[in-house]
Amino acid sequence: MKTGKEVIVITGGAGGIGQACARTFKNQPIIITDYSQELVDKSVATLSSEGYLVSGIACDITNKADIDKLCKFVAEQGSFKALIHTAGVSGTVKDLRKVYTIDLIATELLIDAFYTLATKDSVAVLLSSMMAHAVPANEKYDQALANPQAADSFGIVSQFVNNDSDVMYNFAKRGVQLLTHKNADRWGEKGARIVSVSPGVIETAMALKAAEEHPERMEVIKQATPLKRNGQPEDVADVIHFLVSDAARFITSTDILVDGGVIHNIKKMY
Ligand SMILES: NC(=O)c1ccc[n+]([C@@H]2O[C@H](COP(=O)([O-])OP(=O)(O)OC[C@H]3O[C@@H](n4cnc5c(N)ncnc54)[C@H](O)[C@@H]3O)[C@@H](O)[C@H]2O)c1
Repeated sequence: MKTGKEVIVITGGAGGIGQACARTFKNQPIIITDYSQELVDKSVATLSSEGYLVSGIACDITNKADIDKLCKFVAEQGSFKALIHTAGVSGTVKDLRKVYTIDLIATELLIDAFYTLATKDSVAVLLSSMMAHAVPANEKYDQALANPQAADSFGIVSQFVNNDSDVMYNFAKRGVQLLTHKNADRWGEKGARIVSVSPGVIETAMALKAAEEHPERMEVIKQATPLKRNGQPEDVADVIHFLVSDAARFITSTDILVDGGVIHNIKKMY
């Protein structure tokens, strides 16, 4: 069904932030994608029953053939407006390469694939994390993070993460921010934008899993948050909706922190 209308594509569309993002786009065609068809079908059924114009297709974002299928599906549905890339895993997967591949390499695969669909006023919003702001700039690993598909990239970054998948997550999310800078010029030549958003602790399945593993750390973060609460998916989704809108037409190549002010306080503690 080609609508001619501008399509919003949400990766991780079955996840907490992805679902909340979808709910900010009433009356606009939305394409939900996630790892499994079952997850996609469930999300599409829920959102459809709430009155959203939603369709879906499964896509493992680490698989280039799946991404090509996704792009073909998007092109068939209408003109491409926005990629909201929320699919990802946290350090709880305990696998450095998995974190690097899903959170960073796949992000670059998506940026490149959607660049071909981008036209004037298209926008890519990529989910980074406040923890990326805890990783300082460094010539050696930044070069590797900005080129995650290079053969030596993972090996170089691994030297800095102490074999800790949570730390690898922070580095991968810094890489996401570096990819926005790297791609902003070519997206800009088309009149298109590319930005990242860095959430703090947002109460979704991902954060609740991390909270189970580190309950004391999560409580410290909550108490250090100026607003004294964790974030809700809607706190992030509303900002992403703004970034997709024409009101954000001069925002590109930057990161927007949506962390309740906590990373500034965390940095003071260490
Ligand atoms: N929740 C938080 O506190 C928080 C904080 C900072 C950053 N983030 C980032 O925000 C984004 C969304 O997080 P969330 O809390 O909604 O997580 P979530 O776990 O609820 O959703 C993530 C979704 O990504 C999907 N996914 C994972 N691997 C995939 C793959 N290979 N292919 C396709 N889909 C895949 C999962 O199936 C899931 O539906 C993530 O990138 C996360 O790193 C979240």
